[in-house]
Amino acid sequence: MEKAKAENFDWPNLGFNYYDLPYSFHAEYKDGKWDEGKLTSDSTIKMSEAANVLHYGQEAFEGLKAYRRKDGGVNLFRPDMNAKRLHNSAERLLMAPFPEDRFVEAVKMVVKANQNFVPPYGSGATLYIRPFIIGTGEVIGVHPADKFQFHILVTPVGPYYKGGMKPTEYVTSPYDRAAHGGTGQSKVSGNYAASLLPGSLAHKNGYSDVVYLDPRLHENIEELGGANFFGITKDGKFKTPKSPSILPSITKKSLLQIADSFGMEPEETTISIYDLDQFSEAGAMGTAAVISPVGSITHNGNKHVFYSETEVGSYTQKLYDRLSGIQDGDQKGPDGWQVDV
Ligand code: PLP
Ligand code: COI
Repeated sequence: MEKAKAENFDWPNLGFNYYDLPYSFHAEYKDGKWDEGKLTSDSTIKMSEAANVLHYGQEAFEGLKAYRRKDGGVNLFRPDMNAKRLHNSAERLLMAPFPEDRFVEAVKMVVKANQNFVPPYGSGATLYIRPFIIGTGEVIGVHPADKFQFHILVTPVGPYYKGGMKPTEYVTSPYDRAAHGGTGQSKVSGNYAASLLPGSLAHKNGYSDVVYLDPRLHENIEELGGANFFGITKDGKFKTPKSPSILPSITKKSLLQIADSFGMEPEETTISIYDLDQFSEAGAMGTAAVISPVGSITHNGNKHVFYSETEVGSYTQKLYDRLSGIQDGDQKGPDGWQVDV
């Protein structure tokens, strides 16, 4: 793939795609320690044919964004939380965690090196940052690797769900993405591999994404393929699923705090797929999704429409304005949420 050129991007019309940018960050772990790591213009990765990641899936990743501010500077949003979650995911798969303070420094370094590719303020686009760790030590039996690579790629992106802040349709699936007691709490590739088939069936039928149900009863909402779920009750309360098999979303944690500041009495609780009538609005929340209104959920052929299939509800809009106001640097957020690059 050819290296991208900043002048060729049509920022307001970007989709969610990969472009090969000038610089990535790369570090390697062997003999019990991580090397210094460095910026590299090599966007390929070299490993043994027996690397653990190729056979037994030792891989964990993160997703965060760099936001162009009005003053021309660049913000990260709570990158320490991504560092911590990657640490937890790595431990779940018996991989060497990358030191959390160095994670944040490496993210800043790679964003700075690609600064011409941080989309302009107000374009609706951002620079997506994808750090990951892979097990590259050679194995043939099912054992953890003893060598790892940490790599960060960056690529400019627009909205993840088509339409961004327009409501779209979602559907449940008989498939699960993660088991009870499995790796749902970790951001690891296996969860996403399991979601490819149900996701592609949903897309073929015109839905934006799958609403996964709990893997034991198939009754309670877990999360979406690429985001957590929230509902706003008819009396304006913010509810989001509580489950041991969903990803602990940083956007969710932030919105719980924002909803609290709005007096929306936020709660993480069980949400039955048969109790959607309690909600007047619903949405997806995540780094890539930001907040994307869920217009409807179809379950067993029955379509439940929330607020509207075309209009955004006022609570969803208010939450979005505050969250993106902080991310873009237009509004001051709580301490530590806005990190200058
Ligand atoms: N759930 C899944 C399955 C995801 O892939 C993501 C994206 O990272 C999220 C939730 C949202 O997490 P965050 O807000 O930390 O991006
Ligand atoms: C993110 O929001 O960063 C994710 O990793 C979601 C992914 C499906 C793009």
